[in-house]
Amino acid sequence: MKAITTSGWGLSAELVLNTISAPTRLGANDVLVQVHGASVNPKDWKLNYHAAVAFTPLLVNKLPPFFGDDLAGVIIDKGSKVRDFEIGDAVYGMDMRPRTASLAELTRIDQKRIAKKPPSLTFQQAASMPLAAQTALQGLRKGKAEAGKSVLIIGASGGVGTFAVQIAKAMGLHVTGVCSGRNADFARELGADEIIDYTQGDYRNTAGSFDLVFDVTSYESPRTCDALIAEDGWFISTGGDTRSMLITPFYRVFGKHCGTVVVESWTRDLDTLSELVESGKLRPIIDSVFPLAQSQQAYDRSRTGRCRGKVVIEVMA
Ligand SMILES: NC(=O)c1ccc[n+]([C@@H]2O[C@H](COP(=O)([O-])OP(=O)(O)OC[C@H]3O[C@@H](n4cnc5c(N)ncnc54)[C@H](OP(=O)(O)O)[C@@H]3O)[C@@H](O)[C@H]2O)c1
Repeated sequence: MKAITTSGWGLSAELVLNTISAPTRLGANDVLVQVHGASVNPKDWKLNYHAAVAFTPLLVNKLPPFFGDDLAGVIIDKGSKVRDFEIGDAVYGMDMRPRTASLAELTRIDQKRIAKKPPSLTFQQAASMPLAAQTALQGLRKGKAEAGKSVLIIGASGGVGTFAVQIAKAMGLHVTGVCSGRNADFARELGADEIIDYTQGDYRNTAGSFDLVFDVTSYESPRTCDALIAEDGWFISTGGDTRSMLITPFYRVFGKHCGTVVVESWTRDLDTLSELVESGKLRPIIDSVFPLAQSQQAYDRSRTGRCRGKVVIEVMA
């Protein structure tokens, strides 16, 4: 089968299209998916790219392909304990233990990490969702988001942010989005009630206070956002530095809460997202689409940090 591997090793190695063995043995809870779409997330090039590049010479032809988390495709085989999915089902999902390996024509994935694809979405649209949209959903829940509360979403125009704005609106929150001026109208179209343009000065001491500050850029911390968080409010991050992590337990002493979201894929959460899609409350925003052979260019596009929505890879037409 065709799959993405690397051109060699070391930091100058590039992602290249290769022909390798298809996965053979399926676990009892696994399905074998013919992958149609995948997508790029910053962690792909932040962590796994360099790790994979370093170890690829040892792994080539010994382990399955390593790149890509999000997938959308069709089940072509299933393990003996798979009950809720049938061969022929169109599904979407991801599994980061260790990787979905979705930059390949075929891959295995555990049944608990996937759900039926929302019928109204193409494979490419569905492939943009699992990691980023579940991060948005799980982060909002962790920050006790509920109808009537206010949320500040820092990074409203990116992969996670475009989902977070729409899901927060669907939950009934008052949404303020932080983005650059060029994305202000776009974030309003997604449903943001108010916009703060981060290029027009430091808003962090003047923007007022919010029940939830959801930083999806990973740049901020409870310290930098302290003035933005209401009493008994929450700061939730998709990343954060070590110093911020260390003060997390003490932050509660001051009547505020903070935490980090570490996304996991679950059928029930994907089903929740599918319902939002099918009810017209959520739509994936696609920044750009690349063919599988141009996965390196797709990574490079994501690495600019300027994407509006998601970078998608078409694995099979
Ligand atoms: N912990 C987890 O489980 C988890 C899961 C998913 C993602 N993450 C992390 O979350 C972060 C965001 O992921 P992503 O997929 O959303 O990234 P992304 O799509 O690459 O984010 C790009 C967006 O960020 C905006 N942006 C850049 N600087 C900004 C700033 N200072 N203030 C506000 N917006 C800014 C850009 O808008 P402009 O071009 O207008 O600046 C662009 O629209 C990454 O660090 C990723 O690794 C963590």
